[in-house]
Amino acid sequence: MIELELANGVKIPQIGMGTWQINDKDTLQELIKTANELGYSLLDTAAAYSNEISIGKAWTQLGIKREDLFLSDKVWNSNRGFEAVQSACRKSLKKLKTDYLDLYLIHWPASPKLYDDWKILNAETWRGMEQLYQEGLVRAIGVCNFKSHHLDALSKTAQVMPMVNQVEFHPGMPQQELISYCRERGICVEASSPLGNGAVLVNAQLKELAKVKDKTVAQICLRYGVEKGLVVLPKTTNPVRLQENLAVYDCELSDEEMRMIDAIPYCGGIGIDPDEVTEFG
Ligand code: A2P
Repeated sequence: MIELELANGVKIPQIGMGTWQINDKDTLQELIKTANELGYSLLDTAAAYSNEISIGKAWTQLGIKREDLFLSDKVWNSNRGFEAVQSACRKSLKKLKTDYLDLYLIHWPASPKLYDDWKILNAETWRGMEQLYQEGLVRAIGVCNFKSHHLDALSKTAQVMPMVNQVEFHPGMPQQELISYCRERGICVEASSPLGNGAVLVNAQLKELAKVKDKTVAQICLRYGVEKGLVVLPKTTNPVRLQENLAVYDCELSDEEMRMIDAIPYCGGIGIDPDEVTEFG
């Protein structure tokens, strides 16, 4: 598995296994078993996915070595603040049956539209993340769904800048400005929903390109993220597709093909604007 290097030197696998909406214990166990055999190590979860306990049981019962996993987790909105994020992390560690995380992320920014004190809220949560990092409970820290104004504000008080920003990215949502912004600041971008939650797989232009390249549309979407230097986190409940989603290093997209994909208009996905998000849950 190809690895990228975060700003603090921690190596992160370029393709990880997304686990959003996969809650069934047995399904998760089977997927993690297959994923491990295929060479996946990055498991991306979140407190809000309600599957931390099942993931913790799965990897320990399967006898996977902790050092062969890259466990990434996210703190939920209800645990913003210096103290709250630290106790949330400790609870998550217990559920995941581990004493450290490889990566811990703030799931959503507090947004200017919802909170007058959004800058303070994000800064205080981040201070708690830095504390966890300093204590060695997490090997790397980052954020999700942060736009440049959230990152600009955070940079005023951060002692350590986020090493990762996980955002929705797929054909139809190329995030070009945000990716450039993050690249200039050494922030690794992770693509959540790299297949647009399945919606982009029926796009006619992508289907055509996939035929020319003798790849599947899913593989074209993942290769698109890989060529941009992103970490991609496809999600599947199908063990065969786990393998398909890894096989993206034997195909290259030309500059012209990349530009063609960049120009695809929005064609489905999650589509939540972090500034519009209501605090669902
Ligand atoms: P399934 O679980 O049946 O494989 P995203 O990663 O953008 O969130 O997209 C997830 C969706 O894409 C799920 O509906 C998943 O369905 C589907 N999916 C994942 N990998 C593939 C693949 N290789 N081919 C087709 N569909 C896929």
